[in-house]
Amino acid sequence: MRAPGKVNLSLRVGAVQDDGYHPLVTVFQAVSLAEEVTLTERAAGAGILVEVTGPASDGVPTDRTNLAWQAVELVAERAGVDPDVHVELHKGVPVGGGMAGGSADAAAALVAADHLLHAGLSRDELHELAARLGSDVPFGLLGHVAVGTGRGHLLTPAMTRGELHWALGTRARGLSTAEVYRTFDERGPGDGSSAAEREPVHVDQDAELLQALGAGDTEGVGRALHNDLQAAALHLAPELADVLTVAERAGTLGAIVSGSGPTVAALARSPRHARAIGAAWTAAGVVDGVHVASGPTHGARIVHSVASDGPPRP
Ligand code: C5P
Repeated sequence: MRAPGKVNLSLRVGAVQDDGYHPLVTVFQAVSLAEEVTLTERAAGAGILVEVTGPASDGVPTDRTNLAWQAVELVAERAGVDPDVHVELHKGVPVGGGMAGGSADAAAALVAADHLLHAGLSRDELHELAARLGSDVPFGLLGHVAVGTGRGHLLTPAMTRGELHWALGTRARGLSTAEVYRTFDERGPGDGSSAAEREPVHVDQDAELLQALGAGDTEGVGRALHNDLQAAALHLAPELADVLTVAERAGTLGAIVSGSGPTVAALARSPRHARAIGAAWTAAGVVDGVHVASGPTHGARIVHSVASDGPPRP
C-alpha cells in the first residue's frame, strides 16, 4: 500500500464541544510524501506484529496503540476472523509532524486488511471504521483535495486544477495534537479573540481558497492559506516563527504550520523553488529536516498484491 501525508491548506477551528473535540472546517491536500505499508498473513494464532522502518521511525509505537494495529483488529472483527497479520510501516511522512502519517498508516492498513482477510467491506464501511480510528484517517482513504467538516472526518471532494509544490520543514521534536488543541482553547487563534466565544466555523470562509484551487491560481492559494492552530503551535514551539520568516525571505507564495505542527509547509512556484526554500532553511539552521513534495495525490491504494495461492496480481 501507499498512503499519502497531508497538508491542511486551511484549518478553521470552532469552540471545543462537550466531547472534547473541536468542530472543524478544513481543506486537506494529499501530498507526495507517503507511507509504504505492507500487510502479510501470519500463521494461525500468531496475532498482530507491527514493525516500523524508515529514516525517522524512532518513537513510533509497535503495540496496540499504533493505529495500523487497531485498523487490522477492526477489519478482522468485521470479517469474523483472527487478526494474524504482519504489518510493516515504512515511514515516509514526518513522525508527529502534523501531516497525518499515522493516519495514513491506518487508512492503508484498513484497505489492505480488507483485501487480505477477504472482509469484503464497502467504501462506506471502510470510511466508518476510519472515522473511528481518528479524525484524519478518512482523508487518508480519499486523498486528492477535500473539505473536511465535523471533526475533520466528513469529507467533500473539491475540484482543483494543476499541481502545488511544497517545501516542508520538519523538526525532530514533534508536537502533541491534543496539547496544541488545549493551547488553542487557552489562548485562542492569535487574533485576540477567545477560543470559547468563537463564531461557528463555516465552509464559506474558505470560498477564496476553493476558488483559487479550482482556477489553478497558485498565488491565490498562497494568499488564502490559513491555520487557526498556528498561534498555539508557535506558542509551544516559538522557533517555528524563524522557519516561517526564512520561507518568506526565500519568496514563498505562502507558508503555514501544517495541521497541529510542527512541520511548516511553504508553497513554492516550482519544484526548483521548493528546493531553494529548503536550502534556505538548512543554511539558516532553523529546521532539522527538509522535504519537497507536490500535491494533490491519490488516497491509500494497493500498489502490489500477491495472492498466497498464485502469481502476483496487478
Ligand atoms: O481524532 P484524533 O485521535 O486524531 O485526534 C487527536 C486529538 O486531537 C484528540 O484527542 C483531540 O484532543 C484533538 N482534536 C480535537 N478536535 C478535532 C480533532 C482532534 O480537539 N476535530
